[in-house]
Amino acid sequence: MIRDLIIKNRSYRRFFQEVTIERQTLAELVDLARLSASGANLQPLKYILSCDPQKNALIFPHLAWAGYLKDWPGPSDGERPSAYIIILNDTQIRTSVGCDHGIAAQSIMLGATEKGLGGCIIASIQKDGIQKALDIPSRYEILLVLALGKPREKVVIETVDKTGDIKYWRDAEDVHHVPKRPLDDIIIG
Ligand SMILES: Cc1cc2nc3c(=O)[nH]c(=O)nc-3n(C[C@H](O)[C@H](O)[C@H](O)COP(=O)(O)O)c2cc1C
Repeated sequence: MIRDLIIKNRSYRRFFQEVTIERQTLAELVDLARLSASGANLQPLKYILSCDPQKNALIFPHLAWAGYLKDWPGPSDGERPSAYIIILNDTQIRTSVGCDHGIAAQSIMLGATEKGLGGCIIASIQKDGIQKALDIPSRYEILLVLALGKPREKVVIETVDKTGDIKYWRDAEDVHHVPKRPLDDIIIG
């Protein structure tokens, strides 16, 4: 079951924007992060939720999408995320956050997948832009933005071929292909 969920939990970047997500749903996803592991159990992560078009529009311009797809500027209006969860470090609790935000992000994305949603972890963020646009106090450091919605694209996993190229790509039917390294290549001892 966990394998199926992980396979289904791909990075989606195009959505049915008209399908709304309730704030309560986002809170339930953050609750999964709350219950997850945290270095020294310090739990420095805080969250900002966005699920209304006005707030979403303040976040979207500060995100960079799919760096390997050079000819694609990101989702166009109508296929943008319906919601965002911004993961922040509360620097008054801990100055450096370790890998808590990666664990939190994965818990949230798996929970979203289980709910029939999908999304993308985004680290390429114009942090100053979001900090100003949402008036986020300086004690909170933006770590990741999770874009969420009802996926409207097909994503398939394949095995990295002999060329070793790990870049994801889109075919003529707009299917998004994600090469993963074979198991034998990553278990080294
Ligand atoms: C820490 C992290 C940061 C990421 N940042 C971005 C990003 O800024 N923009 C983006 O489009 N995708 C981003 N991604 C998504 C990756 O590109 C994606 O995970 C990768 O292509 C593999 O696809 P998969 O998630 O379907 O396995 C990020 C993923 C992770 C884990």
